[in-house]
Amino acid sequence: MELSRRVVAVAPSVTLAIAARAKQMQASGLDIISLSAGEPDFDTPSYIKQAAIEALQKGDTKYTPATGTLELRKAICEKLSRDQNLSFTPEQIIVGTGAKHAIFNVLFALLNEGDEVLIPSPYWLSYPEMVAVLGGKSIFLKTTETTDFKLTPEILKTGIHPKSKILILNSPSNPTGAVYTREELVGLVQVLKEFPRLVILSDEIYEKLIFDGFKHYSIASLDPEIARRTVVINGHSKAYAMTGWRLGYAACPDKELAKAVGGIQIHSTSNPTSFAQAGGVLALQKGEDDAAQMCRSYEKRRNLLFEQIKALPKMKPFRPQGAFYLFVNTREIGIDSVKLSERLLEEAHVAVVPGKPFGSDDHIRLSFATSEKNLQEAVRRLAAWLNKQ
Ligand SMILES: Cc1ncc(COP(=O)(O)O)c(C=O)c1O
Repeated sequence: MELSRRVVAVAPSVTLAIAARAKQMQASGLDIISLSAGEPDFDTPSYIKQAAIEALQKGDTKYTPATGTLELRKAICEKLSRDQNLSFTPEQIIVGTGAKHAIFNVLFALLNEGDEVLIPSPYWLSYPEMVAVLGGKSIFLKTTETTDFKLTPEILKTGIHPKSKILILNSPSNPTGAVYTREELVGLVQVLKEFPRLVILSDEIYEKLIFDGFKHYSIASLDPEIARRTVVINGHSKAYAMTGWRLGYAACPDKELAKAVGGIQIHSTSNPTSFAQAGGVLALQKGEDDAAQMCRSYEKRRNLLFEQIKALPKMKPFRPQGAFYLFVNTREIGIDSVKLSERLLEEAHVAVVPGKPFGSDDHIRLSFATSEKNLQEAVRRLAAWLNKQ
């Protein structure tokens, strides 16, 4: 069948291929340790589940407004005000089935054929694929360990021009775990002010997973003019261990954009699941202690994995300040990231994610959203494998 040009532009997923192979090996009885998860290993806190169960029992089984219930959108506005000092009204909030969905719909509403989207690299692998499907053009702004995988004003200036349409910022970052400080964001704001047409898409999905006493800042909170052209993306998946619930949102700076994003949703997926939204309200109102507790566990695991991987030969981990990934420079091993990931799976029985689809073939990504016992055993296997090389 002849597929659309847009779909042909999407790259096949190497990550999924490796994950499928790991599952196949596990099913055949092999003991595989997976450090590939992009989701919390914790369960959703019970009172959040209870809220969804009660919603179902009282007949909350019908369509809701396509952009989410008013109750949930109000709770999101309260959260954004409380945590980031951002002011939004419920009409500006579009709740979708996950942050991924929200990002896609915002890009859909903004991009014309050939529009340029600035993406700091390494990046979350779905950004360029979404841009490609929508006919846009990704312009990668390369960062390395030298700038702690963060965009600097100088790097930003190399790719930005008056016709650039969107800049995607992701702090804390997947895959590097880099977190921008307030001062670093202010530095970027100075450059962004010279390009008034540019829209900023600030993906803050890992906001609650932040270590070393760091504080998360939304770029929208730093300057009123920047706030008027920043779309804030967030969701429930990572903070409250709710990946399967599929709840995420876009907070749009103006009602026109919100109407456009909402319009796409009305004619495609309609509302996120009714009773999931009821749980989503409670997560935002009562979930802070649990989110903080899970964050402390990730920090402990980060410390363990970082120190142990750092001690291995030819592996140079970047110390993440947020999210739950360790981005490890493996260039000295001399094998590209896809081949290396395949070999670690086949020969060491450790599943990792290659850096290539995230924009760096010199790295692999290890997730520490798994138990300390698993992390320790994975390191032992990696050490044994490296010893044999
Ligand atoms: C950077 C980033 N943004 C957005 C998402 C999407 O999250 P969800 O669709 O589960 O809300 C993810 C998920 O892995 C992510 O890593």
